[in-house]
Amino acid sequence: MKNKYLLTTALFSVAFGACTFFSETPVSKAADIDGMKIYLKHCKTCHGADGNPTDLGTGLGARKFADPEWQAKTNDERIIEQINEGTPEMMMPFKEKLTPEEIKALVPVIRGFKE
Ligand code: HEC
Repeated sequence: MKNKYLLTTALFSVAFGACTFFSETPVSKAADIDGMKIYLKHCKTCHGADGNPTDLGTGLGARKFADPEWQAKTNDERIIEQINEGTPEMMMPFKEKLTPEEIKALVPVIRGFKE
């Protein structure tokens, strides 16, 4: 009787431990990140919901993300770098506000804007 109780407790701990372990792995976290949601929250004021700069963005010097010439000549590392560091007086840096995973999730959003 006592042994059965111990076994149940042990099994429960293993199952519970596994759940906690998996919910904390970065893989499942990355899958939960919605890049478009982050974009609409932090970037749309200047870059527009469809990647076309707003009046504010245009005034500051932001380009249209759909521009095929720009898409061809930039690379994902530069996009990440720009989001991390920003440009003084034009765009604020996001490295303190967003996690590296969130910033990475923004790249396909920016790449996804087409004319
Ligand atoms: C306050 C307005 C503002 C906000 C908010 C903003 N940006 Fe920008 N962004 C700019 C401006 C202005 C530029 C042009 C900077 C330059 O030419 O150096 C720019 C440039 C960029 C570029 C590089 C484009 C190029 O010309 O090479 C990327 C990529 C970018 N922003 C992504 C984002 C993302 C993603 C967010 C949200 C996390 C964001 N921006 C939020 C104003 C903003």
